[in-house]
Amino acid sequence: MQSKARITALGTHVPEKRLTNEDLEKMVDTSDDWIVQRTGMKERRISAENEFASTLAFKAIENLIKQSQKDVSDVDCIIVSTSTPDYTFPSVASQIQKHFQIKQAGAMDLNAACAGFTYGLHVANGLISSGLHRKILFVATETLSKITDYTDRTTCILFGDAAAAVLVERDEETPSFIASHMGTFGEGGVHLYRTNLSTTMEEHSLNTSGKIVQNGREIYKWASRTLPTGIEELLQQAGLDFDDIDWFVPHSANLRMIESICERTGFSIEKTLTSVEYMGNTSSVSIPLALQKGINEGKLKNGDTLLVYGFGGGLTHAGLIITWGTDDVRHSTN
Ligand code: ACO
Repeated sequence: MQSKARITALGTHVPEKRLTNEDLEKMVDTSDDWIVQRTGMKERRISAENEFASTLAFKAIENLIKQSQKDVSDVDCIIVSTSTPDYTFPSVASQIQKHFQIKQAGAMDLNAACAGFTYGLHVANGLISSGLHRKILFVATETLSKITDYTDRTTCILFGDAAAAVLVERDEETPSFIASHMGTFGEGGVHLYRTNLSTTMEEHSLNTSGKIVQNGREIYKWASRTLPTGIEELLQQAGLDFDDIDWFVPHSANLRMIESICERTGFSIEKTLTSVEYMGNTSSVSIPLALQKGINEGKLKNGDTLLVYGFGGGLTHAGLIITWGTDDVRHSTN
């Protein structure tokens, strides 16, 4: 389907509190050297006790409004990507509708774990290009620190909290979306989970601590073999070559994994935007955080062609090729 939708605005927000590698050294048996060597991470942001997915989302939307001078009161659909909603229901999307007094809008949360941003963009593009909606507020917001086990050194070094909001609007002349590809490997679901109502997964009995449980090695192997194939599929669909892509923006799960994917696919690491070093793995927010950082650093410009690729729990993955072209009037992170 020919896209008729454009990403017209972006806003992000991260909480104040920083969790450094030195802080983690005092909490578990780890070291700054190990974390930097294996993940490329130095810091992450952690939400306060009274800050939730909704709180971070509101601030990201306020920043979107500041940066773009856009009005959100007339959006006709609110979609939120989160694995850590304040409540199972009402959704974070419903909380946003109330907070911003958006009069006529459907509201729903979507959970595709760390692939949530690319899944959400795919859905927003589909709803607008099909003519069902005209203006969608899509927000990714995560407080993974609240479900992280800070006694487990294999996971607690990874995760951070953040939110990002984009507006996707009807635009037949200059649409953003060139190609998209998504997939799922449910067989690998047991390698990355957090239990809710059920305490078993087929023959596996699960850790029911309510915290994230991850077999990092398995996820690493799966992502390193899945992304190159997905990227190839996207480029073929778009009739483009690696050289046509200005910026590769993969989910910021681990810098070493990103380097290895770049080696396998032929992308230069210099043409990659990430948020991993100072934000850690912020799940579905990591890609828009990297985009905001790219804008702030003067790298990402309107007219650039991006290949964004999310992957995570499920196991889910989705990638898109996008032409960047927002109406932002100024650039700032907070
Ligand atoms: N500090 C010191 N040593 C550690 C630490 C730590 N923080 N964590 C693990 N180790 C040790 C292990 O105990 C192990 O020791 P052993 O050899 O004596 O048994 C050794 O280091 C190697 O452990 P691995 O788990 O094999 O380490 P690996 O190099 O795979 O790195 C990591 C672990 C960083 C988690 C990596 O596997 C990874 O990033 N995986 C992908 C995660 C991911 O992408 N998740 C998907 C998205 S997340 C989402 O959807 C919510």
